[in-house]
Amino acid sequence: MLNIAVLVSGGGTNLQAIIDSIENGKLKDVRIVRVISNKEDAYALSRARDHGIEAKCISPKDYGERSLYFEAMAGEIREAGAELIVLAGFLVVLSKEFVTEFKGRIINIHPSLIPSFCGDGYYGLRVHEKALERGVKVTGATVHFVDEGTDTGPIIMQKAVEVKDGDTPEILQRRVMEQAEWIILPAAIQAIADGKVK
Ligand code: GRF
Repeated sequence: MLNIAVLVSGGGTNLQAIIDSIENGKLKDVRIVRVISNKEDAYALSRARDHGIEAKCISPKDYGERSLYFEAMAGEIREAGAELIVLAGFLVVLSKEFVTEFKGRIINIHPSLIPSFCGDGYYGLRVHEKALERGVKVTGATVHFVDEGTDTGPIIMQKAVEVKDGDTPEILQRRVMEQAEWIILPAAIQAIADGKVK
């Protein structure tokens, strides 16, 4: 059994995809032991609680220093017994110390085909705005290990998605989620649980 902690900041549709995959038996030998948000009002926390998963907010605002905030995060993750940390729309940049402690045990989902449209400032709708601005015909999503950089860690899985005429950033974002993110995030977790990715 692979115990995972899922870190979120917003709506939590990727978290929902993981929960659904576990509940419908597609994702095997994986258990969500904690969901942690930096925002009290993140809908992702309700999604977790609705499914009986322990969920809590740890806000940087409650800690004077960044290092203390990440110590609290690390403490919670250790206490929960999580072996893998899944960033599913988590919008806080991790500290170097946190990444070092959990190196090789943190994965992230990014809504583009890395190395396109990634790095500092590329999050949320902006990723899709930039893809449309550049006029690419194919975009997608990437699951990767997290290292000290932004979206620079080893790639685990990618899936391409077609860009269509008339797409808005919102329409493209939704298609990338439906056709790529919600599929490859549970699949990447399964691959790690099965020992196929190290
Ligand atoms: C997703 O697009 C994910 O790729 C990105 O943040 C968004 C989170 O969406 N990192 P949700 O909270 O999972 O609905």
